[in-house]
Amino acid sequence: MHGKKTLSQLSPYQQGKQTEDIQREYGLEKIVKLSSNENPFGNSSEVSENLLPQTSTFNIYPDGHASDLRTEMAKKLHINEDELVFGNGSDELVQIISRTFLEPGVNAVMATPTFPQYKHHATIEGASIKEVPTTSGYHDLGGMLEAIDEDTRIVWICSPDNPTGTLLPKAAFYNFMDQCPKEVLVILDEAYYEYINPALDFDILENRSRYKNIVILRTFSKAYGLAGLRVGYGVMDEAIAAKVNIVRSPFNTTSITQQAALLAMHDDQFIEDTVRKNRSTMRDFQVFLDGIGWSYYDSQANFLLIATPISGTEVSDYLLKNGYIIRPGELLGYPNTIRVTIGLETDMKQLQDLLEQLHLHVNNEV
Ligand SMILES: Cc1ncc(COP(=O)(O)O)c(C=O)c1O
Repeated sequence: MHGKKTLSQLSPYQQGKQTEDIQREYGLEKIVKLSSNENPFGNSSEVSENLLPQTSTFNIYPDGHASDLRTEMAKKLHINEDELVFGNGSDELVQIISRTFLEPGVNAVMATPTFPQYKHHATIEGASIKEVPTTSGYHDLGGMLEAIDEDTRIVWICSPDNPTGTLLPKAAFYNFMDQCPKEVLVILDEAYYEYINPALDFDILENRSRYKNIVILRTFSKAYGLAGLRVGYGVMDEAIAAKVNIVRSPFNTTSITQQAALLAMHDDQFIEDTVRKNRSTMRDFQVFLDGIGWSYYDSQANFLLIATPISGTEVSDYLLKNGYIIRPGELLGYPNTIRVTIGLETDMKQLQDLLEQLHLHVNNEV
């Protein structure tokens, strides 16, 4: 059986071990998962308390247009309803957009390392990939501008970036937008948008009328805590949305996910609490890291990429045996680092104890 030729360059997404497997393997009572940048505080109680009773018609296809969610979201964001496209997570939007605009003979420009799905889907579509190395974890926007040529269809910008958490400076972003050719689509992936310090926000929705070529991707998976339900959205010019909607499958978000997003989106208090706790726990963790002399990248997200004195894989194995799942940087393009999602305060204190012991051990102090 022959798949697309391009598939020979790729492999399926390698899912980390499931919590129950690790618990069994290491005989642990408790596992703390800090590897996928999920929300450790759960999700809005509005969702937990109200979701199922309202959604009892599972035999009926969902509203493929997600009309109620669309209306409410458009009101909240002060945009037109037809500028919205929903996806089965923003992952699916990366896939749909790639399928809509990429093909053999064209190219996509992106940072390296960055969120891997941009490259993955460009490769599947047979497009060329122009990767521009990051500088101190930041996208090199000048280099990305230079990489654009007449065959460029998409530029991917991830801000805050994954895996570093770095947020591009607003002026640099708009300087890039002003110089980017108008026929090149710029996809701004703001999966961690809610965590950004408001003073540093690009305010891209307010400015989008100046840039018809921009697509903004956001998600309910991170600060909203609905990763398991899979819903993300893109904001884009109606003409772009019209093309994307040809590729989008008719019922790509379920009735449950639409309902959950509707319930979650108005609970501003939950987001506020999440962001506040994330920030203060991250600050404590940074102070701890400063104390043991481990450096980390700037982060405006809910995770930190930390430089480690031994390989990230060794740190990860050590933490795993002690019940903590994190991501070794070797899997993310940043060797000798670990990416740690900011968890609950108590769990982070225990993590600090474990890292302190490792630090002393590495320095032969125990
Ligand atoms: C930068 C970035 N974009 C998109 C996604 C996909 O998120 P989801 O498909 O859950 O909306 C993630 C998830 O980790 C991410 O980090």
